[in-house]
Amino acid sequence: MDNRLEEIISSFQKVSGKITLLTGAGISAESGLPTFRGKDGYWKLGSKEYRPEEMATMRMFRQAPYEVWYWYLYRRSIYGNAEPNQGHTAIAELERIYQNSFTLITQNVDGLHLKGGNSPERTFQIHGNINFMRCLNNCSNKLIPIPKDIFYTDRDGQISEEDKERLVCPDCGSITRPHILWFDESYNEQFYRFETSIKTASETDLLIVVGTSGGTTLPIHIGSIVTNRGGYIIDINLEENRFSDMAKAASKGCALRGKSGDILPKIAELLSK
Ligand code: OAD
Ligand code: ZN
Repeated sequence: MDNRLEEIISSFQKVSGKITLLTGAGISAESGLPTFRGKDGYWKLGSKEYRPEEMATMRMFRQAPYEVWYWYLYRRSIYGNAEPNQGHTAIAELERIYQNSFTLITQNVDGLHLKGGNSPERTFQIHGNINFMRCLNNCSNKLIPIPKDIFYTDRDGQISEEDKERLVCPDCGSITRPHILWFDESYNEQFYRFETSIKTASETDLLIVVGTSGGTTLPIHIGSIVTNRGGYIIDINLEENRFSDMAKAASKGCALRGKSGDILPKIAELLSK
């Protein structure tokens, strides 16, 4: 592979430091899931097309709760059949090798990293998980699994009255909401491991960024913290993006162009030596 990559990996191995993986929708593309900003993200509501940035908001949920719920239930039904790919498996292998020196920070809400073998303790799902809901009134912190048989694969369907009654908080009877961080909300520790992610970044010696365009604030912040303290950064993506720019600008960085399912197993192998 790339000389620069081998150099970075062998220098990192000499310091026996901490490794952090930061992933986005691109890693799940090879499991057949559409990326966030791809064409399948768009949604028709009434006569208008909405972008994910408009659908995924508290504002829209207040206005049209069951339409927003449907958008998530539809995506979740499609995600449900997906299996982890070689990229996920390689990241699970890295956790087995590095154990307490390993952290996975993912923007994905599809749960495929957990299905692929990463532990819930070391996997920070900073944008939530589409398989869970929680009380809209915040009467407790409880994450409630969405019943598996609430299943909608028809893009133009509607939630049944029966299912609406199941999307309810068991404690106070309020409507629930998807356990997802929306665009008009802020990161926090309680649900999204915000402070722990920042702390992890400040202790990271090698950051590997996979399949993300860099459109959200916390991931960019994590990249800056690591590079500002002189950590190594490797970006894996089909295209140029904000992290590949960061990796090219950093003295200890490298940007690899290609599929995560091809590149990650090779990196895991180098790191396991
Ligand atoms: P995007 O859809 O913005 O970006 C996906 C990235 O993956 C792009 O840069 C692609 O080039 C890359 N890609 C696609 N297939 C790939 C492959 N096989 N191997 C490697 N790279 C590949 O998705 P995210 O960056 O994850 O937030 O989006 C970040 C966040 O913005 C999402 O979590 C969501 C969204 O708005 C919230 O819901 C809060
Ligand atoms: Zn409640």
